[in-house]
Amino acid sequence: MRINIDDTPSPSYLLDEKLLRRNLALIKDVKDRAGIDIILAFKGFAMWSTFDIVREYINGATASSVYEAILANEEMKTKAHTYAPAYSEADMSQLIKLSSHITFNSMSQLNKHLPQIQKSGNNISVGIRINPEFSEVTTDLYNPCANGTRLGMTAETTGDILPDGVDGIHFHTLCESDAEDLQKTLAAIEKRFPNTLKKAKWINMGGGHLMTREGYNIQLLIDTLIDFKKRWDVDIILEPGSAFAWETGYLISTVLDIVSDNDINTAILDVSFTAHMPDCLEMPYKPVILSANNNDNGKYCYRMGGNSCLAGDYIGNWYFDNELNVGDKIIFNDMIHYTMVKTTMFNGINHPSIAIQDMNRDVKVVKKFTYTDYKNRMS
Ligand SMILES: Cc1ncc(COP(=O)(O)O)c(C=O)c1O
Repeated sequence: MRINIDDTPSPSYLLDEKLLRRNLALIKDVKDRAGIDIILAFKGFAMWSTFDIVREYINGATASSVYEAILANEEMKTKAHTYAPAYSEADMSQLIKLSSHITFNSMSQLNKHLPQIQKSGNNISVGIRINPEFSEVTTDLYNPCANGTRLGMTAETTGDILPDGVDGIHFHTLCESDAEDLQKTLAAIEKRFPNTLKKAKWINMGGGHLMTREGYNIQLLIDTLIDFKKRWDVDIILEPGSAFAWETGYLISTVLDIVSDNDINTAILDVSFTAHMPDCLEMPYKPVILSANNNDNGKYCYRMGGNSCLAGDYIGNWYFDNELNVGDKIIFNDMIHYTMVKTTMFNGINHPSIAIQDMNRDVKVVKKFTYTDYKNRMS
């Protein structure tokens, strides 16, 4: 097994450097061949102990808050491309120092903050977020074009005009999407925003470009970007999060107990779905467990139960060829992007450590959580 499980404490998020480098090399290749910029969206992956590695391939980060913008400056050594649905005056005073690009979600926010940005004399390029009213994303939780959305302005709202003082446009309407989805989205934008596009110096095509997923049509992505850039004479920025950390690591856990009710067997783990894998419950989805059959058949069937008091803190069923026992390791696959950034310390359950397995399979624990982390979130 490539995973060095013996040297990884339980519970831990374990990132495999080899898998991260594989994604980074692919992303850099797309960036170079398409002649665009690809920057990392911290909202999806903010494990800053890897940023020295990330910087060997790409340079740039997108921030959705002041804290993410500080992290961009401190750990990615770059100013941030910043976008949030709204900024307070206090946020803006800080973001002006931390950002190279600031994008606004509404005309009222643009009008409120633009004078302060211009007065600062800082070299900041301003953008507006548009809503192309087209998205192939079917889950409303992840669909920024759903009816009543608060994200971005329609062509009707902007009048298909790039306001004075604004250089660029931003859209984010994809989620774990393919190049074909991007193609269709760009067609919708060209139809609705032709005059805006003619004036724009840059277009930020948001995230959701899952170019590191097996089967993604990389050539179509590159061709689409080159063609768009040529026709509209704009600089292109992509800001994926998931694509960077897609299938780069695991959540390692241990069976603490096995309980049964009405013929349902639950393996209680030293982790929690609600606290440590919240997307599994929010989306919802059933992650892959490396030792299970994952095809819904097998001799022994178990739910996996989290170690919190929430009744719904479980997912199942998984099937195994052998009975599970207390002390067995349960390894959830693909638990790095979004999972790590969304955890909580609900119930005061110990937070999984964060570890990296390097190119030689040596494991380094880069963060251990303690009672102090829990206590410091309260007062
Ligand atoms: C504005 C914006 N940019 C980038 C991203 C990153 O998207 P992904 O991680 O799906 O690539 C998101 C995700 O929600 C987003 O809202």
